[in-house]
This record gives sequence, structure tokens and C-alpha cells, in this order.
Amino acid sequence: MGSSAKAPTPEDAAASEERLVDVQGHQALISELKLERERIRQGGGAKRIETQHAKGKLTSRERINRLLDDGSFQEIDAYMTHRHTDFGMDEQRYPGDSVVVGFGKVNGRLVCVHAQDFTVLGGSFSEVQGQKVAKAMDLALESGVPVIGLNDSVGARIQEGVYSLAAYSELFWRNTQASGVIPQISVMLGPCAGGSVYSPGLTDFVIMTKGTSHMFITGPQVIKTVTGEEVDLETLGGATTHSTVSGVAHFTADDEGQALELTRTLLSYLPSNNAEPPPAVEPMDDPWRMDVELNTVVPVDPGQAYNMKTVIRRVFDQDSFFEVHRDFAQNALVGFSRLHGQVVGIVAQQPMILAGVIDIDAADKIARFIRFCDAFNIPIVTFVDSPGFMPGVAQEHGGIIRHGAKIVYAYSEATVPKLCVVTRKAYGGAYIVMSSKYIRTDLIFAWPTAELAVMGAEGAVNILYRRQLKAMEDPDSERARLEADFREKFSKPYAAAASGHIDDILIPAETRPRLIAALELLRDKQVKLPPKKHGNMPL
Ligand code: HXC
Repeated sequence: MGSSAKAPTPEDAAASEERLVDVQGHQALISELKLERERIRQGGGAKRIETQHAKGKLTSRERINRLLDDGSFQEIDAYMTHRHTDFGMDEQRYPGDSVVVGFGKVNGRLVCVHAQDFTVLGGSFSEVQGQKVAKAMDLALESGVPVIGLNDSVGARIQEGVYSLAAYSELFWRNTQASGVIPQISVMLGPCAGGSVYSPGLTDFVIMTKGTSHMFITGPQVIKTVTGEEVDLETLGGATTHSTVSGVAHFTADDEGQALELTRTLLSYLPSNNAEPPPAVEPMDDPWRMDVELNTVVPVDPGQAYNMKTVIRRVFDQDSFFEVHRDFAQNALVGFSRLHGQVVGIVAQQPMILAGVIDIDAADKIARFIRFCDAFNIPIVTFVDSPGFMPGVAQEHGGIIRHGAKIVYAYSEATVPKLCVVTRKAYGGAYIVMSSKYIRTDLIFAWPTAELAVMGAEGAVNILYRRQLKAMEDPDSERARLEADFREKFSKPYAAAASGHIDDILIPAETRPRLIAALELLRDKQVKLPPKKHGNMPL
């Protein structure tokens, strides 16, 4: 499982090919093989490669070479072709069909990869493409290495009918089997219509390129016919739509180079499989660093916003925060980071957006990230500052109950080390669902600015003393006195600490060394879950 041996360079590969010729001397056979290899590299032909480049897209092999360490790619099944003859398919037989598959290394660690070749029948998903991708996925699962799909396809190959659909089913089944065992990453680099979107939809992370990648179940034409709506391709299923509105995409890239670089960076935070810890790096940052700026990040006025990303950047190892789902449900923050070289998952509210309220999208974003971290042995550190769940008819009718329940389910089910820091508001539902003590968070810290209460002082006084205050001629001073009483009791963390609902109150600057020490304690944490086939998470 994984190896850090130095990858051979393209020069090494060429030299070894020459040595083979010298030793064996079967010049004619080897020349024939070399010609075959050249034919395979041509995919659907020079003209179609030119068209691909003209669209600002790379070919499947160029993409693989950019993604993997130099010279590390080992291709398999390059000679497979389809067996269909109808609809002109006899004349459209290309070695390798419409996908390139194999394995190689990213930063010295093994991965399996499949890359659709748009120059062969539009990268359409065929019986052979299905068989090749299935083989790559089986190898990945058995070897315990991540699988990366580079997607650029028109969807199911029409000429192959049910063979193509059956191949998709095989892929979806494998995506599901591999889920939670090996990381699965989908990089979207072209059109992805119909069946092509479901495999990415089943994987852990989706990366889209702006302008050149599109994902949709049915295209603009079909939508117009069925619903009468008029929509362009970009608005319907472009990278911006899927990263800001639907949440299907976790990352967007300006171009293919950036998308592939993002993939390499993402992999640097992930273990190769669910039996391994995530990859640690040599700690470069002082574990005892106490950043005094943290002491004043949270404003004294509870109505004033601050940037939770400032807190994250100052607590965790320098420049290690890698945000996931950055543009979706920005009232919540999730991402990977490192603490003393060890990978952690961060879940937080962003008080700058909607005061950090939890709405439907934020709940989905948080719950899915927690489940990924738990499946892959990544400890979770939560920072809480939320007034609670978003009120409103749209949220209630959209199922905030069902979606919000996902957060509490995900935290309760997670057995990885769980740490929590309450920086300010932990009101009501937000207190409970955001990694509270009794859904089995291991250690909870509060900053002196923490407010742990059923609700804010103004709301509480309004509910409890509404009638009395209404009867008064001048209720303002009494209202102010009652609110101050509430604040004294609940707007400070001492009552919660006195009853053990939190484990300690920290000077904010102490947060980094205290989290590092807590993680060291919990590294080999063992928790048993009750035996069951699987739970019934609210979906
Ligand atoms: C086989 C196809 C094809 C298909 C296109 N081609 N669609 N071949 N099966 N489904 C071929 C074209 O003939 C062309 O061949 C090459 O692929 C590239 O296609 P172009 O149209 O030239 O490319 P472009 O202009 O970039 O347009 C891309 C596109 C368009 C917008 C995606 O091709 C398109 O709308 N295709 C149909 C998409 C679709 O509806 N797919 C089926 C989804 S249903 P040459 O020889 O010229 O290179 C589905 C069911 C599964 O997937 C559901 C499972 C849950």
C-alpha cells in the first residue's frame, strides 16, 4: 500500500526501452510494437486532438502526465476495442476505445487513474470504457489506493444501447463499494451529461474547470421541451453554478492545469485508504506558538462580525488550511489543515456570512465533510459561533429538520478524535449539533467570549417577560436589567464550565498548544459502535 520510492523519469523509461532492444534484438517485433504504441497515443486522430486543443482542453494522456509524477504512469488495457458493428461502429474502432486507464504516483504515493478520451467518439461511455474503468477501480480497491477520474464525455454511447447503460451501472456499483474505503476524486474537464454525472456525484470530491466543464442530467434543449424554461449551458451546469448554488462541485479551477494541481494538493491531505492514518508532514511550525492576536479577534459586541478564517489561520500550522466547498454555503466553513504536521478536518461557522446561522445548505456541507473525515481517520476540530438554525418558511418547507439532523447524526456517528472550541455564540440547536459534549465530543474548550445558552439575551427576555414588560409604562430600563442578568449568567462560559458541559476555558492564544496536546492524547482513541448493518441517516 503506497510507496515513496523515487519515480522513474521519462528519460529512464526511454533508456530502459533501448536496453530492451539491445538485449533481445527482435528489431522487427519491437518496431511493430512501437508503431502500435504510437497509434494508441493518437487517440481519435490528429484533427480531433487539434479541435480539443482549440477548445482550451488537453488530451487524456496530456492530463494524466500533468497529474502524475513525471514518468510514473503505467497504462493498462491500451489495446482493448469494442465489438459493435451497427451504426458505422465497424469503421470507428480505436485501440483503447474512449478512455485511458492505469496507475502512477502523485508526490511519490500510488493512485489509479481513468481519463476519458474526448477524441474517440466524444469520450462516450461504452461497454469497453466501463470494463477498463472497472478494472482500474478494482485494482485501486484491492491495492488500497485513491482513484481519480478525469472526465470529459458526451455521456452514454448511443450506438451501444443497453451495453453502455449496463457499463454505467457497473461503475456506479463500484463507486458505492469503494466509498469510505479509498478516496475517490472526480475532475470535470469537459461536458458531462446524463449518466456521466452520477459517477462523480457518488465520489468524495468534484473539481470543475470554469468555462470548459458542464454537468447536467438533461441539457438546455430537453429542459426547454419539457418545462419551457430557457437556460444557457453555463447557468445550467457550469462550474460557478455547481460550486455556489447546487454544491455538487467542491472546487473550481480557472483552467485544467489548476484543476490537476488542486487534485495533487487535495491528495496530500488524504490517506491512501481507510486503514491508514492521513499523511503527516515534518512539523515546520512552533507547536507552542501562542498568537496574542487571537485574544482580540472576537469583538466584545456580540452583534459584530469577525472572520473565522483569521482564527483558523492563526491556530493551525502556517499556510496549511485547504478549504473545501469554499463558495458553497459560506456561512459554514469546512476544510483540511495541519496541526503540528498532522492532518485534521476543520468544521466552523463563518460569523461574517449570515452571522454563521445554520441553514439547509450549511447542514449538508458540514455533515458530508464530517462523514468523509470519519471514514478516513481524520480528526475533526470544530469552531462554534452560531445563533442557531435559520428561521423561515422556505427553510422549514425545504426540510431544515431533515437536513439539520444530518449534522447531529454525522457527529454522533463519528468515532475519530473530536475537539471543539466555542469562540462565541453556541445558542440552542447550534450548541447541541455543533460537536457538543453529549454527542460524544472528546474535549470542548471555550474562549472567554463564549455564550452557551438556549438563545440570546434579547430573545430570552422577550419570551419570558413579554407580558410584564408590556404592562409597564417605561419598560426599557427593566428590559436592560433583565438582559444584563441573562448575559451575566449565560454570556460567559463559567456556568457551563462549572457543570462540566465544557472541559476548560482558554485564553484564545493558548488554543494551538492545547489542541495539539489533546490530539496527541486522542491519536489512538478506540470507540465501539453498537452492531448494525448500517444506520438510517436522514438524507
Ligand atoms: C456516441 C456521441 C454522443 C453519444 C456525441 N457523440 N454524443 N457519440 N454517443 N451520446 C459524438 C459526436 O458525434 C462527435 O463525434 C463527438 O462525439 C463529439 O461530439 P460533438 O457534438 O462534436 O462535441 P461538442 O460540440 O463539444 O458537443 C458536446 C455535447 C454534444 C454538448 C455533449 O455532443 C451533445 O449534446 N451530446 C449528447 C449528450 C447526451 O445527451 N448524451 C446522452 C446522455 S443520456 P465525431 O466523430 O464528430 O468526433 C445518458 C444515459 C445514462 O447518459 C443514464 C444513466 C443514469
